[in-house]
Amino acid sequence: MFNALRPQVSSIIDSNQTPDAKMLAICELLKAEVPHYDWVGFYFKNGEKRELKLGQYAGAPTDHTIIPFGKGICGQVAESNENFVVPDVQAQDNYIACSITVKSEIVVPLFLNGENIGQIDIDSNTSDPFTKADEAFLEFVNFEVAKIL
Ligand code: SME
Repeated sequence: MFNALRPQVSSIIDSNQTPDAKMLAICELLKAEVPHYDWVGFYFKNGEKRELKLGQYAGAPTDHTIIPFGKGICGQVAESNENFVVPDVQAQDNYIACSITVKSEIVVPLFLNGENIGQIDIDSNTSDPFTKADEAFLEFVNFEVAKIL
């Protein structure tokens, strides 16, 4: 599945659209094609502030459009610079719930010139669905997106 999606992500990146339209198209592609991806979105560092701001996303609207560094899974990844796989969100103390249907989450940082400037965030309604293949694929997605930022 992920091997088939990689060229589709690359062709969106190479297409003739604004960066925001490309990121939205990628969110919609991933949500539509990966059965265990129920919400897909990008957060980016909000200027010079130590907070994340929601960018493009596919899935239900969320109240969490601003997340301070250190808060929730997303805020922790803003500081750790490392992938964060959460097989069971209920087992996390520092977690910001977006929907009661969400059971698991993965957040992968997005680097531009070596700097952690944002992240891709996936929520799943399935328990413990994420593997190393998800991590490798989402690292690829972020590498591609960094080319248009
Ligand atoms: N669950 C995230 C908040 C963002 S929503 O999933 C869209 C967190 O704990 O950081």
